[in-house]
Amino acid sequence: MRISVIGCGYLGAVHAACMAKLGHDVTGIDVDPAKVSELSNGHATFYEPVLDELLSEVEESGRLRFTTDMSAAKNCQVHFICVGTPQKRGENGADLRFVDAAVDGVAPYLDPGDLVAGKSTVPVGTAARLEEIIHASEPDAMLVWNPEFLREGHAVSDTLNPNRFVYGVPDGSEDHPAVAILDSVYEEPLAKGMPRLVMDYATAELVKTAANSFLATKISFINAMAEVCEATGADVTRLADAIGIDDRIGPKFLNAGIGFGGGCLPKDIRAFMARAGELGADQALTFLREVDAINMRRRTRVVELTRQLCGGTLLGQRIAVLGAAFKPESDDVRDSPALSAAAQLQLQGATVTVTDPQALPNAAKRFPELPLEPDLEATLAKADAVLLLTEWKIYRDLDPHETLALVASPRILDGRNVLDPAKWRAAGWTFKGLGRP
Ligand code: UGA
Repeated sequence: MRISVIGCGYLGAVHAACMAKLGHDVTGIDVDPAKVSELSNGHATFYEPVLDELLSEVEESGRLRFTTDMSAAKNCQVHFICVGTPQKRGENGADLRFVDAAVDGVAPYLDPGDLVAGKSTVPVGTAARLEEIIHASEPDAMLVWNPEFLREGHAVSDTLNPNRFVYGVPDGSEDHPAVAILDSVYEEPLAKGMPRLVMDYATAELVKTAANSFLATKISFINAMAEVCEATGADVTRLADAIGIDDRIGPKFLNAGIGFGGGCLPKDIRAFMARAGELGADQALTFLREVDAINMRRRTRVVELTRQLCGGTLLGQRIAVLGAAFKPESDDVRDSPALSAAAQLQLQGATVTVTDPQALPNAAKRFPELPLEPDLEATLAKADAVLLLTEWKIYRDLDPHETLALVASPRILDGRNVLDPAKWRAAGWTFKGLGRP
């Protein structure tokens, strides 16, 4: 099929490459000429495992190209809307400016029977409004809401083999013609038996925000347990192991630590609360305010624990911060708990050095005053305390004895609960975890 992908950021670049991998003829369209030029040379403008290899492969096959020219959408049958929906400045709601611009931009190029497929995360009610804009331009074009559930760091495999497909169509019916078109697009993964659910627009939009809210709630639940564990001397990691065995609860997303960040969970729960307020259903989601507050308290807790680790004051203490990305296998620093804690420590008088295998260029843009060091050993050298804040494998695999030889004082805070405290203590370290004795 001939496909256009509008918006070539994280979601769009991955989606375009994966649609070409599935055998479609794909044109990625973005307003940013620098992004288009990088992508056209087979390079994503962000770090995502295997994506660059995939981009080169499908570009060489001739099935994928990128452009800034929206008229390239002409003659495509399916148009994926993949632009961002960031949090509005100073407000909780989502900024829909880019979604609106994408739909306004593609509308003049639609032919009868074309399908616009929305993948961006939007407040409930958006699809119904966009459908009117599309119909004003081409009454016989269709809109489907087809939310994306990919995780950064696993984006390619999550797109090629998602664990479910959700199609939101106006009447919620399997017989809607948009369903057969999307089925052709996703023929290969559907043939492997991936579940596919057809529903109305509002439900499809809510599936995405509800899923991210549940994930955020699960993380904040275990972090709330960590707070109680800290107050009683219990161990949240053993608690999570034990409750996670119950398959009604499950072990995933129960890693207590410095909390969630990134471009999705934090802004999605806030936008969801804002939208519920507009709809008069704000009481239903007041618990998400607590989810957000628990999450933010973890960052403050890291600062407090570091102060304790350093004997009561941060002034002049050399702190080695391992990790800047919001999670491993990503260079994304949006709302990164690691960087937020590092910046707080610096503001409170510590001499902070941050290292990360991928995220330092982005960290430098966001926090230009934070000293960044690409070399791990140089970061650790003469540190008064080491903080593991993003659990990259190289940090999880650190040897306590070798690391001891580099630092000034053997003190470590494991902000992700991924190290073995017994091993580190036996090597002579003062060890602190979050929610652990
Ligand atoms: C999240 C969802 O997991 C995806 O399903 C969704 O498609 C995506 O948002 C989106 O809306 O686009 P992502 O932001 O890539 O994906 O990151 P996650 O893997 O969900 O992790 C989010 C944060 O939670 C990270 O900071 C991570 O370190 C933290 N986390 C995760 C924990 O603190 N504890 C856990 O047990 C799990």
